[in-house]
Amino acid sequence: TNASTTPEPMPLDEIDLADNDLFLDGETPWRMFHTLRREDPVHWQPEPAPNSGFWALTRHADIVAVDRDPRTFTSTRFTNLEEVDDSQIAIRRSLLETDGLRHGALRRLLQKQFTPRAIADYGTFLRGLTARTLDNALAKGTFDFVHEVSADFPINVLAKMLDVPGEDTEKLIDWGNRIIGNTDPDYADVLLESAESERYRDLPFRSPASLEVFAYGRELAAARRGGEGTDLVSRLVNHCPSDGVPLSRHDFDNYFLLLVVAGNETTRHAISHTMLALLRNPTQLELLRDDLALMPDAVEEFLRWASPVYHFRRTATRDAEVGGRRIREGDKVVMWFASGNRDEAVFENPYSFDVTRRGVDHVTFGKGGPHFCLGNALARLEMRIMFEELLPRIADIRLAGEVRRVRSNFVNGIKELPVTVTLA
Ligand code: HEM
Repeated sequence: TNASTTPEPMPLDEIDLADNDLFLDGETPWRMFHTLRREDPVHWQPEPAPNSGFWALTRHADIVAVDRDPRTFTSTRFTNLEEVDDSQIAIRRSLLETDGLRHGALRRLLQKQFTPRAIADYGTFLRGLTARTLDNALAKGTFDFVHEVSADFPINVLAKMLDVPGEDTEKLIDWGNRIIGNTDPDYADVLLESAESERYRDLPFRSPASLEVFAYGRELAAARRGGEGTDLVSRLVNHCPSDGVPLSRHDFDNYFLLLVVAGNETTRHAISHTMLALLRNPTQLELLRDDLALMPDAVEEFLRWASPVYHFRRTATRDAEVGGRRIREGDKVVMWFASGNRDEAVFENPYSFDVTRRGVDHVTFGKGGPHFCLGNALARLEMRIMFEELLPRIADIRLAGEVRRVRSNFVNGIKELPVTVTLA
């Protein structure tokens, strides 16, 4: 995975962060980031559409500076690369694309449900779920780790928080794949780059699957309105945001969809990348298995290494300067978190996967800004419990086939990770 030796430099004129094809092999992205950090850390990346492009920030310091300055670098013109106009924004905006007071009010609706303390209450449930997931998978001997373990586990956690039946998780996984996989022909109903996607311009990620998520969410909302439930949906429908402005139908739809996609694939890919890194670094695996007390710190290295979200975008609200380059009002500015996580200025030997690393200052969840991942404590606990439960169960684990990746410059995803295990 994620180059474990220093990547070969790449000629600047071959670099194209807008080209999803270059993200398929698991090596080229790291070569692009490595070269850019050295040669052009605030790089102007043209895009296929006329007069289109973005500033690519590849250094840790510049990413942090932009993430923590939402007045200059707004999320309200959207956080993915797509150009959106006012009419699309009005319909598609979620928590993630809201700034200022309204953002705080929306975020506070669910903040309490995601604090480390609230999340710790899930500990027993998570451990039971992890044990069941692993026992089912490991009994097969040879299996696809993504399908049997990494995909199955986070969605069941989410199902619990949403209080929906376990049999719905297959549907939720399928929706997440089709929505976030909108640049991958294996997943997308309509490829984002295709002319046909224009028909779905008012839907999140231009994905028709969004409509199914909306319908599902609305049904839950209708059943829970006025009830006593403490699940996330009940919270959204029965509490008014602190600014006194109730959720509109679009607000609810988009919040619900954000929860379904944000809590699903990200954690899945974090777990898969960690598994792959451990497969490729058996001494690290043994270190951990011999001393599970290393796990809390190791999880931070897992997150740095995995970098499941390659980037988020901002838009400059005024002329500004980043890393010595002049940015003009209206320019798109893209924080390449994955690159920040390999920055030599911050991490010693950034290309070595080292579970004994301390004080890992990764930007995997963003850093220092108002949009800092709401689910970070949950993701951390899920990862920790997953590997605390997995390692003692196995005597040996090996790669049993080809690793397949998601075609996307947005999520750093693994589609298939065949493994063979010998039980302890
Ligand atoms: C925001 C990454 C897991 C819910 C974000 C952001 C990143 C991110 C990079 C934007 C940060 C910024 O702009 O500063 C990840 C990764 C995860 C993960 C890598 C797993 C390893 C989760 C989980 C949930 C979740 C489990 C919830 C169930 C959210 C939400 C936001 C968010 C709701 C938007 C917050 C806002 O706009 O205020 N995440 N996330 N995430 N994440 Fe996560």
